[in-house]
Amino acid sequence: MKNTIAYIEKNKERFLSELFGLLRIPSISAESDRKPDMRRCAEELARLLREAGADRADVMPTTGNPVVYAEKIVAPELPTVLVYAHYDVMPVEPLEEWHTPPFEPQVRDGRIYGRGADDDKGQGFMHVKAFEAMAASGELPCNVKFMLEGEEEIGSAALSLWCRENRDLLKADVILVSDTGMIGWDTPSITCGLRGIAYMQVEVSGPSHDLHSGLYGGAVANPVNELCRMIARLTDADGRVAVPHFYDKVRVYSEAERSELRAAPFDPEAYKRSIGVPDTAGEAGYVTPERTGIRPALDVNGIWGGHTGEGTKTIIPARAFAKISMRLVPDQDYREIARLFEEYFRSVASPGVRVSVEFLHGGAPYVSPTDLKAYRAAAKAVERTFGKKPLPFYSGGSIPVISTFEEVLGVKSILLGFGLGSDAIHAPNENYPLENFYRGIETIAWFYHYFSE
Ligand code: BES
Ligand code: MN
Ligand code: MN
Repeated sequence: MKNTIAYIEKNKERFLSELFGLLRIPSISAESDRKPDMRRCAEELARLLREAGADRADVMPTTGNPVVYAEKIVAPELPTVLVYAHYDVMPVEPLEEWHTPPFEPQVRDGRIYGRGADDDKGQGFMHVKAFEAMAASGELPCNVKFMLEGEEEIGSAALSLWCRENRDLLKADVILVSDTGMIGWDTPSITCGLRGIAYMQVEVSGPSHDLHSGLYGGAVANPVNELCRMIARLTDADGRVAVPHFYDKVRVYSEAERSELRAAPFDPEAYKRSIGVPDTAGEAGYVTPERTGIRPALDVNGIWGGHTGEGTKTIIPARAFAKISMRLVPDQDYREIARLFEEYFRSVASPGVRVSVEFLHGGAPYVSPTDLKAYRAAAKAVERTFGKKPLPFYSGGSIPVISTFEEVLGVKSILLGFGLGSDAIHAPNENYPLENFYRGIETIAWFYHYFSE
């Protein structure tokens, strides 16, 4: 491993400038006019993978954005690690809150700023560089495959299909993913749980056109008022989701499991300060790490309708909309939850409006056991580079395709992510500390080393 570590040290600057090249491409999967950028990003990644030492690196078509597939087969009898990452990023609005433009990456105060700096170009690219360092040093102890998708942020529908059609190509002993975070820089940890998701869009409509609110106000249901009232009924005063049967399949953790969860360091004051809230809120009877780790949640992601422009306009809007997501935990099923949601949401509407409910995407939760060889290798790698044994922890985020990998490929994933709460993923001024980037590369290299022992 000496050569690998020396190689990383020697090539640090180049690694960073190559990452900047990727960060300059606005690969926003949610925006349909970005298709050329998606393609350009995939091609650039394939080129970088070939340069890094892959035997092959192809931009492969899917029903959506292309998948970049690459591999280096050192010897067929060696173990095979399949790396997953995504090259698509979230939209960048509100633009005016960025201190520097989202697609003009920059290092300030030891952090890389730019959309995708962490999620997931920065974290994904660490794998390309760890692979390069080991291959170039002649210390790569296993076969490596890469599967990089361009639709994670919109639900990975194309990748799920592509996986089913490419089962043989994707044969591997473990899937390695850096698309998660750690409890903190001083509390290295490995994610062993991800929440599932069910994402809905609702529309409440009333009159055939906007009405004068003086002439009609008080006489017809206002869709925006109605939508707000209906949304208010989705949760109760105890912070629980009010959809009937929503909790029926939620796994109950024992007191012993819960106290283990609570043992991880968590500072509520620092937490509140870091996100600027006067207080936390959530399901009664659970502490914050439990609320995000092992309990489900329902959130309105956006709501619109009526007049939101300058000045005033006296109307009863014809229609109102909301995007609503539910984070799910084992053993909730997103299809069933979507159905229960729709049933309940329709049931709370008043007769004066019409309701439509659309399911946008869903995914299952994932739990990674900690008694796997690959998990132990990851834990050793983290201990080696961070100087502390990592804690297993449950993340509140979702990567729906991870459970698909298990179902379709029969392979477990190790969630070896290095993100921090301060990285502002999905938000303005997303950033990734340089130290995490470089230490992440080293940790991944050590993972290969221990996993192949
Ligand atoms: N990388 C995140 C998920 C994540 C972040 C997990 C931090 C754990 C810690 C991923 O890119 C993401 O944002 N996923 C979406 C899923 C969705 C759009 C289907 C999410 O969690 O909102
Ligand atoms: Mn991600
Ligand atoms: Mn994301």
